[in-house]
Amino acid sequence: MAFKIIVLPGDGVGPEVVREGIKVLKTVEDVYGLEFNLVPYPCGGKHYLEMGEEWPDGAFESCRTSDAILLGAIGYPGALLPNGDLAGAGVVFGLRFGLDLYANVRPTKLYPNVRHMVHGSPKEVWEPGKVDFVIVRENTEGLYAPIRGTLRRGGLEELAVDNQVVTRKGAERVIRFAFEVSMKRKGAPADGKRRVTCVDKSNVLDGCRFFRRVYDEVAAEYPKVERDYAYIDAFTQWMIRKPEVYDVVVTTNLFGDIATDLAAVLQGGMGLAAGGNIGERHGMFEPIHGSAPKYEGQDKANPIATVLAVEMMLEWLGERKREKTLREASRTVEAAVEATLREGKHLTYDLGGQARCSEVGDAVAKKVKALAQTAG
Ligand code: IPM
Ligand code: MG
Repeated sequence: MAFKIIVLPGDGVGPEVVREGIKVLKTVEDVYGLEFNLVPYPCGGKHYLEMGEEWPDGAFESCRTSDAILLGAIGYPGALLPNGDLAGAGVVFGLRFGLDLYANVRPTKLYPNVRHMVHGSPKEVWEPGKVDFVIVRENTEGLYAPIRGTLRRGGLEELAVDNQVVTRKGAERVIRFAFEVSMKRKGAPADGKRRVTCVDKSNVLDGCRFFRRVYDEVAAEYPKVERDYAYIDAFTQWMIRKPEVYDVVVTTNLFGDIATDLAAVLQGGMGLAAGGNIGERHGMFEPIHGSAPKYEGQDKANPIATVLAVEMMLEWLGERKREKTLREASRTVEAAVEATLREGKHLTYDLGGQARCSEVGDAVAKKVKALAQTAG
């Protein structure tokens, strides 16, 4: 079975980490007899400076007809559109809005032998399994809805407005998605209970009150999943203090944006954090660390976030296509990442090691091969 995968390496360290993700995908292709037709497109801020476009004509259409999309990172210093927007953001939002990728799924999992970064630098090892939750961020509305503007420019009267949009359809589908994720998991590390935490600011905002009301309606369909509520401000501290009580968290767009970067410190930093932008028919997968331009071209960035994005892509594709081999491959990729981290021989600088980005990619690919062969 052949799958068309669009590859958008983008800016900064994007191409380097994507190269390692592809290395792992190619290994999967070899050992599982799958076929991935990779279709790359240049895109991002640098591409905009060189070509005057964020991505080539036809790239979106190609994404629309693909089986899945792998994105590196977007954002280049000094690359802004005439309206002041980050050049390249049009790719991210073009895909999220254009393909209706309404659920932004960000697993937060601390792998064995990885230190959390709550204290800024790695100091303490937590018992494995303490951090294992998934944040499901609404991805097509909220404060990201393109209903905004600068109403008056300059002077003391200058005025700019952003609006938070919550629709029944938007809230309902992402909340249901979160409950479905919980049904597939084994519950929260603390007590093994399935739990979906609704994170909002419903003590102040009408849109959030509506979001919570829809949450209650959907929750009623899932008696096996415990209901849980938190205001975003309180949630940020509970997430850091007691990460083990969380199983799945569902929240609005901007709160999810903020909470997921914060959550990454619980899993050893942004170098390990992957995300999937998922809709009814399309999926885009990415490391969430961004382009980190100061590390560009140094073969230094941690490719594990991208490898985990590939793992999420395989799992999603496997479920969508009802293809067992893909799901098996995704489990092997995760096991290979876990084994690489546990062994601790090939770690990038952010995890206290000295390995290059490409060496970590090699190590994981080698483990994928070994694991697949032992299983086969
Ligand atoms: C993310 C990023 C994006 C967002 C940026 C790059 C537009 O921060 O995926 O979390 O704000 O959603
Ligand atoms: Mg973000």
